[in-house]
Amino acid sequence: MDLPPISTRNEQDKAKLAAGKFAAENYVFDGGKIGLGSGTTSHYFVRALAQRLHAEDLDINCAVTSRSTHDLASELGVPLTDLDDIGRLDVCIDGPDEIDPHGAMIKGGGACLLWEKLVARNSDKVVIVADELKAVETLGAFPLPIEVVQFSWRTTARAVRELLVEYGYADDVVIYRREREGKPVVTDNGNFIIDVKLGEARSIRELTVDLNRIPGVVENGFFVDIAHEVVFGRPDGTAHAYGFPYVLDRH
Ligand code: 5RP
Repeated sequence: MDLPPISTRNEQDKAKLAAGKFAAENYVFDGGKIGLGSGTTSHYFVRALAQRLHAEDLDINCAVTSRSTHDLASELGVPLTDLDDIGRLDVCIDGPDEIDPHGAMIKGGGACLLWEKLVARNSDKVVIVADELKAVETLGAFPLPIEVVQFSWRTTARAVRELLVEYGYADDVVIYRREREGKPVVTDNGNFIIDVKLGEARSIRELTVDLNRIPGVVENGFFVDIAHEVVFGRPDGTAHAYGFPYVLDRH
């Protein structure tokens, strides 16, 4: 199969590609069952994986975390099976919006957090691929995505605010429904996303449980105790894998 060359538009893309390639070279093995993440970094991984798969004629099977990843993987000839049918995955490769030194993350910038969490939770190993701009000391500068049902979403957003106040956040935390080109974003599951500007996230282990208890909330974008390793790529094409807590050597 003739695969298109992998192109990048800027330095950050080069770093994402370096992380994706590293993951395709180091975490994929013949006979493996692989979870394919969503977002640009994961898509670089899928492209690099497709190259390896066809060059080495690997026998692998994959499950996707979004319709967009499904479409890309199918186009590149990557074998796919529904999560329901594939069984437990050996490894899941996915990207973060933010990742702290202990591996806690905010995800959902691409509105795919629900399938991403389902696939990650069904994987023996979760490897995060990222450029170093995603590394943060404290989560929360990136707005927390929360997937909510469309029905009475403003009521759900109010309940989220009330919970945040109970947790000691200011009562004017900005919460908005995500829109693109003037229209509400609708997830692969037919739901809305509300984004919450926490600023500095606190008590995330407890908050992630309590957020999911609110009627109308489907899933939230905190990913805690899910990642096992992170691969940070750099624009010069190098990439390194870290366990947690990671310590980045930033020059
Ligand atoms: C999608 C996600 C993505 O993995 C996250 O937004 C990172 O995306 P990118 O690799 O494009 O920076 O969580 O829901």
